[in-house]
Amino acid sequence: MYQIEIAGGRRLAGSVPVHGAKNSVLPILAATVLGNGTSVIHGCPNLDDVDSSCEILEYIGCNIKREGSTICVDASTIGKSCIPEEMMHKMRSSITFLGSMTARLGTAEMGTPGGCELGPRPIDLHIQALEKIGVAVKERCGRVETRCDSFVGGEVHFDFPSVGATENIMMAASLARGETVITNPAKEPEICDLQAFLNKMGAKISGAGTDCIVIEGVPVLHGAEHRVIPDRIVAATYLCAGIMTGGTVELTETNPEHIHAVTAVLRDMGASIYTNKHAVLLYAPQRIKPIKLLRTMPYPGFPTDAQAMMTAALTLADGTSMIEENIFENRFRHAAELSKMGADITTRGNVAVIRGVKRLVGAPVTAMELRGGAALVLAGLCAEGISTVSGTSHIDRGYGSLVEDMQSLGAEIRKIGKA
Ligand code: EPZ
Repeated sequence: MYQIEIAGGRRLAGSVPVHGAKNSVLPILAATVLGNGTSVIHGCPNLDDVDSSCEILEYIGCNIKREGSTICVDASTIGKSCIPEEMMHKMRSSITFLGSMTARLGTAEMGTPGGCELGPRPIDLHIQALEKIGVAVKERCGRVETRCDSFVGGEVHFDFPSVGATENIMMAASLARGETVITNPAKEPEICDLQAFLNKMGAKISGAGTDCIVIEGVPVLHGAEHRVIPDRIVAATYLCAGIMTGGTVELTETNPEHIHAVTAVLRDMGASIYTNKHAVLLYAPQRIKPIKLLRTMPYPGFPTDAQAMMTAALTLADGTSMIEENIFENRFRHAAELSKMGADITTRGNVAVIRGVKRLVGAPVTAMELRGGAALVLAGLCAEGISTVSGTSHIDRGYGSLVEDMQSLGAEIRKIGKA
């Protein structure tokens, strides 16, 4: 696997487009299984997780055609109702095939999902929700089996607004008889994007983005054409790169509405930020201001997926900051690696205390998971000297062109070793 080598200290400047959202395209690809026909999905990012989804779709019998960022899925030929362990383990999002395959085929059998090691990542909320609409679920030796004994809509309440579980029940309930009401669902933009795609397929869903989603089941869904929303976490990543290098970065093909919580914090850190419908422009301050307390929360709160990059940015603040990670149990693994570059971070449980330093120093570091890996690249961009980042397979799962985009903004960054 290649490494990323960075000669830090260059101010980023320029404009870069943001690619389609990983966390939107993955559930939407799983949702194509529901349609008895061909779906065409535009704006698909070039990511390992997208490749993994296409591998699952082909394995269960769908025909896939990829042209650039467009993926055509013909699900009329679907035949298999099981997904092998090795395919499930490649990513967390594989679990969203549970809802769509169960609804389309009446049964499904798969292993538990993989994904970044951020804590236990159980699937109890997914299972509880499916059982509320008559799906019989059996879990044993790390495999999940479902059967639609009586597939009737019901009342689903989430005590935690799980993104994946909301997506699973939205897909399954689209084909259940009668009405399903979901209270306290996840409200992320990716949930709204999934609702938009499912309704284009003929589903009858309303309320995505609010505290209550109502689904009126229909007997059959057809294929549909859709363009996924821009990736709000890639946008947050690139804005953090801008503030950390003291640069001026413009993002195009993005949606500022989706990153309000991030731009609000960046402004508190001293950045000047201007937005229009599809673009965000950031001017970095002379010195980053500390943030007394930053808490990650479900949308529209500050996104946990931007926490690692914000931790990296706050290592350079003119004072002490505190971050409370409230979504995942173990999401500060990047702290130890940042400390190798001279950062001063103390973590205890779900809290990190970050004492700002004047500068970071280049060092060899290792990505342990997707967003922590991106945070290490950002730290390398502003560190003095050379940094090398290993573990880049984690980064490839969620960033389609991180190195190329940073190069286009003037960074001295390259891939070394075999890709
Ligand atoms: C999605 O993961 C995203 N992944 C994550 O992005 C994101 O961090 C997360 O939502 C929260 O926004 C995709 O969309 C592919 P959850 P998901 O279910 O669905 C607990 C990235 O970097 N939980 O909302 O797995 C869980 O343990 C990735 O792009 C249960 O207890 O997130 C966690 O603590 C990382 N039981 C919390 O809820 C369940 O059945 C949030 O999980 C499900 C979840």
